[in-house]
Order: sequence, then structure tokens, then C-alpha cells
Amino acid sequence: MAIVTDDIEIAVKKLQNGEVVAFPTETVYGLGANAFSGRKVRKIFELKGRPLFNPLIVHIASADYLDEIATSVPAVAKKLADLYWPGPLTLLLPKSRNIPDLVTAGMPTVAVRVPAHPVAKSLLEKLDFPLAAPSANKFTGISPTCAAHVAAAFSDQKLTILDGGHCKKGIESTIIGFKNETPILYRLGAIPIEDIEAITGNVEIMNQNKGVKPAAPGMMKKHYAPRTPLVLIKNIDQLGKVKFGKNAGVILFTDNVNVPAGFQCEILSRHADPEEACANLYAALHRLDNAQLDFVFAELLPETGLGVTINDRLRRAASNIL
Ligand code: TXA
Ligand code: MG
Repeated sequence: MAIVTDDIEIAVKKLQNGEVVAFPTETVYGLGANAFSGRKVRKIFELKGRPLFNPLIVHIASADYLDEIATSVPAVAKKLADLYWPGPLTLLLPKSRNIPDLVTAGMPTVAVRVPAHPVAKSLLEKLDFPLAAPSANKFTGISPTCAAHVAAAFSDQKLTILDGGHCKKGIESTIIGFKNETPILYRLGAIPIEDIEAITGNVEIMNQNKGVKPAAPGMMKKHYAPRTPLVLIKNIDQLGKVKFGKNAGVILFTDNVNVPAGFQCEILSRHADPEEACANLYAALHRLDNAQLDFVFAELLPETGLGVTINDRLRRAASNIL
């Protein structure tokens, strides 16, 4: 059984004892363990059912600890860190020997970020090691944006969950790597790529299809997926034409009077604000996935800013497109 607590000292003790603890960040909840210990980090992979080829993000309290994690920082990475940390930006940097190969899946780079959530910040400040943490869901499942999501995913396992309320951003960090001084996008995330490009100039997109193993398994085709079949729609009028039986849900970007009757409807943002839509997306997916529906339909957002990130997650979660 998972135990939920808001007592940070309990989380600190468990982590010091080598246990895995789920903790809140501003993006999604993470499943954390001492990033300096391969033995402790291995427990994360076991709990999550995650293949060992899929590396983890190392969370640090501030950029001052970067020296312990990475051997060098390109000037452009430093600029991005100065602007976005603490915040939902993960940087891929040459890994220091302090970081076990298990954390990086044998790769020469380590993913690192400074989370902005006050509970994550104070947890990291109380520990004398950084936290390696993937999102606190089972492998390929929907990411958790509140403690209850984590508790539901790990209901049959022994896990302590530090409750820090709802995640404000609600979608994972943007991951940027570097080829010399050229930034490369590894995962779309809570910072729109246009915002990064405004600072760095052109950002290359990591080719997802090269090789057997994905360059960033967050880019794996099937990911963030509900158990209920998710079908994407480009236009709400398509709903009127589908014969789906009675039990269907629909995720809409914003209010729409044209939704046919009978759909369990989730509206991501009444104000059509993509940022608000991000904050609500995973909770909407979790709710509909728990509603015993035959199908869930989802409307794609305009392909700009955070709409691009939301569409990326919806496409990976979807089994079909109408
Ligand atoms: O917002 C977030 O990033 C959340 C919170 C908890 O910080 N974490 C998160 O972790 O989303 P996870 O494990 O679900 O996704 C991390 C992604 C994976 O797709 C992994 O493959 C990629 O980061 N990654 C980690 N290290 C990498 C590396 N050295 N090179 C390329 N990709 C890497
Ligand atoms: Mg994840």
C-alpha cells in the first residue's frame, strides 16, 4: 500500500534510508532516489517497470550543484539555466563520474534540472544528494499531477508519497541537449520551443526514428497512454458522425456548444489558454480513463506554443485518429 504524507521529514528519512519516495514538482510527480547510488536508483526502475535503457533526470536544489553532476556546461546551456531554473527545463550535459551509469543508461550525458516546486526545493535542500527521478507513473502510463494519481498507480506497492498538491504546470519539462553550442530538442515540454528559440536561435529537433532505442524514450511512440482507447479528432463535427455505443468521453480544448449529447466531457481551458490546458490535461485523462468508457475522443489544439506539446502527448497516448 502506498502511504501519502505531507511531512517532508518523513520523506527525507526514507530517502536517507535508501528508499524510493514520490515527490511533487511543478511539472508532474517524480519517483525519487539518491542519484549518487546505483543500488538505490535500481529500485526506481523496478517499481516503475521501466526498461533499464531509459535514463532518468537528476534533480538538484540549485545550479550551484551542477559541478557535482556535469563536467562542463556549454555557454548556451548556462544562458538557458540562468533564465529558466528553477523551472521545467531539463538540460543534457556531459556526465560527471559521481553519476552511476544506471542513471544515464550508459549514456555519456546526464539529464539535469532544478525543479521550481517549493516542496521539491526544500526536500532537495535537506538532502546531501540529488534525486534521480522519472515521472511517478508505471511505464508508458499517464503521468501523475497529484498525489492521488501516484497512489492509484502504486496501490499494490510499498511507496511513500510526499503530497505537495496539484502540479501547477501539469506537463513534463522540455528537454534540451547540445551539439557543441547548438541546442537540440529531445522532448517537447512545459516551455514552448519558440521561447527557447527566441533566446538561442534555431533549435534542432532530435531525430526520433534513428536506431532501435529512442534517443529520449519520452519520444517513444506509445507513451502517456490511458487503458481506454483514445481517438484523436481534428474537428468536433466528427463526433456527430461516429457510432460508438453509449459510453464515450471527449477532451476538448475549450467550451463548444456543438458537443453531441451523451459524451462525458472534459474541458481543458474555458479561456482557451494552452497553459491552463497543460495543467488540466493529465487529470482529465486520468478521470476519463477511470470512468469505464469504451472510447475517449480528444480534440487537437492549434499547433502553436504549448498546443504543440499537448498535441505531442495526445498523439503518443492515442490509438487512432479520425
Ligand atoms: O518534468 C519532468 O521532466 C519530470 C519531473 C519528475 O522532473 N520527469 C520526467 O521524467 O518526465 P521521465 O523519466 O518520465 O522522462 C525523462 C525523459 C525520458 O524520456 C528519458 O529518456 C530522457 O528524459 N532522458 C533522460 N536522460 C537522458 C539522456 N542522457 N539523453 C537523452 N534523453 C534522456
Ligand atoms: Mg515519464
